[in-house]
Amino acid sequence: MRKQMLLSVHGSILSWYKQHGRSFPWRRTRDPYRILLSEIMLQQTQASRVEEKYPLFLKRFPTLASLSRAAKHSVVRAWRGMGYNNRAVRLQQLAKDVMRNHNGKLPRAVDELDLLPGIGKYTSHAIACFAFGQPVPAVDTNVRRVLSRLFPLASKRRDIWDIAQEAVPPRRAYDWNQALFDFGATICTQRNPKCDICPVKRYCPSAFRINGKIAKPAKREPARDGIPNRIYRGRIVEVLRNLKGNRALSLSTLGKRIKSNYRLRDSAWLRKLLQQLERDRLVSLTNGSSAFLVRLAK
Ligand code: ADE
Repeated sequence: MRKQMLLSVHGSILSWYKQHGRSFPWRRTRDPYRILLSEIMLQQTQASRVEEKYPLFLKRFPTLASLSRAAKHSVVRAWRGMGYNNRAVRLQQLAKDVMRNHNGKLPRAVDELDLLPGIGKYTSHAIACFAFGQPVPAVDTNVRRVLSRLFPLASKRRDIWDIAQEAVPPRRAYDWNQALFDFGATICTQRNPKCDICPVKRYCPSAFRINGKIAKPAKREPARDGIPNRIYRGRIVEVLRNLKGNRALSLSTLGKRIKSNYRLRDSAWLRKLLQQLERDRLVSLTNGSSAFLVRLAK
């Protein structure tokens, strides 16, 4: 990576961010719990959706301590609308661990954060930078794409995290990382990137060469009758979440509520979905007198 190019790229992207950066509630706090929550939410949910749900979740669970004390099903209920509900369960386990083993405070160092349950490399780095001001990168799929387009040779040979670390401007790490999120989401997009208005097209070896070449075909995901299993799992949690007093349902009643043409031949498939949700500790299955019963896990 050439130093000179890097300095120019920093200048261009940071000034682009100053003009076009998005304003989000999680960019107006340095509270580690609030940063943690936003980054977990943002990993698999669109920023516009997170923007709507994040304040509601925080109203219900304003601190790590309050989250750690709650009943699990009430955390899953507060996660409504976010999708990938197992994140709610893992977040609460993390809260409990931090209360018990870290005096209720998230650690500052990347390698300590890495040891917490359910925290991966991305999240540990995001917290270290956004909550504790450390000069480390935060490589999500958007950032990975931006960097591998800007530095195609280096990213073929080396780990993207090493490249990202070298690219971080040490005194502007926070803005740089946030800028890359916005830049990847609005300019350097996966399909049809806007190279014509890109502030770093002069420096970018991939500019204008991207269309049709980089875009990968979408992965096929497991589905039933044309609807992904992921959607059905979301429906199951949603149906259970809406039951008063955390009641339980039988398999067949549940089946009919999540699939309009549910038949007996769907029951093995449904049971498999429920086993996945049980493994994620979102639901519990019990053997009722005449049938299996399902409810949100306690
Ligand atoms: N994606 C991941 N983290 C983000 C953040 N802090 N702002 C916007 N998008 C993000």
